Amino acid sequence: MTKISGKITAAVIVSLLAMQQSANAQQYELLESSNQPLSIKICATCHGSYGHGNPVVGGPSLAGLEPWYIKKQLQNFRSQYRGTQVDYLPGFEMRASVETLSDEEIESLLVSIQSWEARKPVATISGDSSHGSELYASCAACHGASGEGNELLGAPGLVGRDDWYMLRQLKIFKSGYRGSHPDDSGGAQMRVGMQALQSDQDMNDVLAYIGTLE
Ligand code: HEC
Ligand code: HEC
Repeated sequence: MTKISGKITAAVIVSLLAMQQSANAQQYELLESSNQPLSIKICATCHGSYGHGNPVVGGPSLAGLEPWYIKKQLQNFRSQYRGTQVDYLPGFEMRASVETLSDEEIESLLVSIQSWEARKPVATISGDSSHGSELYASCAACHGASGEGNELLGAPGLVGRDDWYMLRQLKIFKSGYRGSHPDDSGGAQMRVGMQALQSDQDMNDVLAYIGTLE
């Protein structure tokens, strides 16, 4: 475990310096529980105590995320599918923090993350959820009618996710910052799905509808 923390400490220090420009250090929640491995404490710096998210640095909540999806995304960051653009700091910092993780280290992180309990996110985006419900019909093909996700298609559940984080992802899928790597087949599928959302208002509306799903 110390091995992981050693590898990612340098990246985190750089990140922390950058973060101080926009926020007070006291806003970062650090895990106090001494029975958690050190590496998980480092994830908690950006993902919040027990993985409940840290909007200040843009780290989404991880508690409750499907383990197969977390694993895939850690591999995606490691393989430079995500987070390579310097001008998209949240992704860039995340990639720098995990790019040297080994497969074994990822497996051990998954075990720790599974011990965190999901928490209902607070809605931060408002939109027209009835228009959003019409738009969601096309998303349902991959993410499920109730936003429950579909492992076979690689599409994660959308219920219980932070809306501010999902909005950013929709925007970076739209701009091609996510999902454009030639080997990122899941990202490519999602970029096709994005064709249903033409405007920023469409994104807000569909997220307002997803917020009503349980
Ligand atoms: C320096 C801050 C930082 C650290 C440290 C960090 N992350 Fe992240 N992580 C982020 C940010 C910011 C994002 C969102 C990136 C984006 O917007 O594209 C993210 C995204 C993720 C995602 C993708 C979530 C999704 O829904 O696709 C996973 C999984 C993840 N982090 C796991 C981890 C784990 C596990 C660790 C510890 C080994 C860790 N992160 C350490 C900041 C960080
Ligand atoms: C053709 C299948 C498909 C369609 C249609 C689709 N998606 Fe996706 N979506 C995916 C896949 C696959 C991923 C995971 C991409 C990856 O592996 O990086 C994803 C990822 C996402 C994410 C990022 C989740 C995260 O944790 O980072 C959001 C948000 C999302 N989709 C919302 C939507 C919305 C809203 C719609 C409808 C407008 C939609 N998707 C339509 C397949 C699809």
